[in-house]
Amino acid sequence: MKLGSASSFRGVALGAWAALFAFGCSNPPAQPDAATDASGSDIANESSVVDASDGGSDVADATLDAPSDAGRPPWLEPWSPGPRARPPAGFLWGSATAGYQIEGQLSNTDWSIWEQMGRVTNNDRADDGPQSYTRWMEDVRALRETGQNSYRFGVEWARLFPTRASWEQCRNATGDNAAKIATCRAAASAEGKQYYHQLIDALRSSTPRIVPMVTVHHWVMPDYIADPRMDFRSQGWMNARMRTDMALYAGVVAAEYGDKVDWYVTINEPLVLVLAGYLDGRFPPGRQLEIDGAINVIGNLVYAHAGMYDAIKANDRTVAEMTGGPITPAQASYVSIAHHIRRIYPANAASAADMRAATRADWLNHGLFFDAIVRGNFDANGDGTIGAGEPSNDPALRGRADYLGINYYGMTAIRSIPAIPVVGGLPVPEEQDRGLPKTDFGWDILPRGFEDILVRFGNEYRLPILVTENGIADSADANRPRFLYEHIAAMLSARQRGANILGYYHWSTIDNFEWVGGYCPHFGLYSVDFNNPMRPRTGRPSAMIYRDIIRSGEVTDAQLAMVAPYRNPTRFCPGTVTLAPDAGR
Ligand code: BGC
Repeated sequence: MKLGSASSFRGVALGAWAALFAFGCSNPPAQPDAATDASGSDIANESSVVDASDGGSDVADATLDAPSDAGRPPWLEPWSPGPRARPPAGFLWGSATAGYQIEGQLSNTDWSIWEQMGRVTNNDRADDGPQSYTRWMEDVRALRETGQNSYRFGVEWARLFPTRASWEQCRNATGDNAAKIATCRAAASAEGKQYYHQLIDALRSSTPRIVPMVTVHHWVMPDYIADPRMDFRSQGWMNARMRTDMALYAGVVAAEYGDKVDWYVTINEPLVLVLAGYLDGRFPPGRQLEIDGAINVIGNLVYAHAGMYDAIKANDRTVAEMTGGPITPAQASYVSIAHHIRRIYPANAASAADMRAATRADWLNHGLFFDAIVRGNFDANGDGTIGAGEPSNDPALRGRADYLGINYYGMTAIRSIPAIPVVGGLPVPEEQDRGLPKTDFGWDILPRGFEDILVRFGNEYRLPILVTENGIADSADANRPRFLYEHIAAMLSARQRGANILGYYHWSTIDNFEWVGGYCPHFGLYSVDFNNPMRPRTGRPSAMIYRDIIRSGEVTDAQLAMVAPYRNPTRFCPGTVTLAPDAGR
């Protein structure tokens, strides 16, 4: 089936897909009365692995979960982390941020225009955030104080190439790769380049060293590449030129910083970018149910990633971290995407139809992109098969992941709606009370899902894994301590079960600009006082818990038993603003 074919159902179908990531909601979530903690049996016997070893074909036949007994949904089965493997030498313990979410002074971007268009809760502005462009030393101090040995941060395209003229100079450069990259580096803003150099230098000269991990693209584009006030069809990721533009930009980043950097994320959460930008309209360009557009953008993202991967390999030939890393012998670069993976369940585990719908949703959100960049099998129309004319074992795509970058935040339950083609179901709304503890964002807290997906993706793709994000919106810091203990224990348990996990980055180092959620959700290990002109960062109690876990390299049964149970959140942060149907043009 061709996804883009005219059909009265297709909007609904992709709407379902979009809603998978419909973080936040308009009503406060219902809360279970009782505080919840983790107790009970191990999950080692649970069947939760989708067999995508056929490269994604006929994924609808795979089974996500065996029906649970006594009508209890599988996410409520008792769970506690099993035996836990200690992290290997050189394990990367860090936290993550994104340029636009912390830096400020990026008023030349699609997101700054988005803010002016009134698309962010409370009309919050990124410029009023942690202002790390001038206060980055405070972020490094927070990393040091907590003993983190790695930091994932973004390098902003609009910072290095603030004007159309500077980018055109780079894009139009001639000669071989070395000549072009040299022209680009000369065209880039000296101040912009220096900003990241000083940050990276401060990280690397810390004792012990803080290993930099660079995200090349975390959603934000210069305004001359994507202006959400203009016709979306020629803008940003809709434009096939992004494939070469992003590869060129990644090459410049690798050439500029490669002698100090080995770890790269090319694109943060490509599918969230598609879902939020083209299907539910929360992010620029604000399109809703733009199905053909979404398909087009996925193709551009997949090929852009492959180009970025190649450009980083070509332009970073220096091993920056000679010793002490998690991989021996060390390489000049480790490159992947950071993929947003949710633990997807059938809404009713006893329903074969829900099971099929959940498996389809799982493929579209998770398998499709990984299969393209690991195996070279690209399901370009999203129908679950690699059909005639679709890339299969394609050398232009396969082998473009040195590790699997996984961002994990929680679960999604899918209910079958057979009338909806392609996806065949809809997610149960996020805010629904599923008997699980909630975050300030209304998301369910589910450490068992973390263990499941780490074991599953480790098995499926046989690549090392980096947890590139995992965190909780919790301004009271009431639930983060238990969240940290349980999720890190779940990760170490997954290691024990065979997942080759090389690092963990908590989201986030500091409170920051949470996209359309503005400054309501607080994800930071460190709080930021946004009312104080100095924007002081203060370690939350959970920051010290993270420090102690890093020091000891373990989570003990005693710690799990002692930490306070989850409480109902004291605030609720809607993840979206109400949209006019055709807003964003
Ligand atoms: C994104 C971050 C975001 C976090 C919390 C992730 O999907 O990569 O930019 O702040 O989730 O919502």
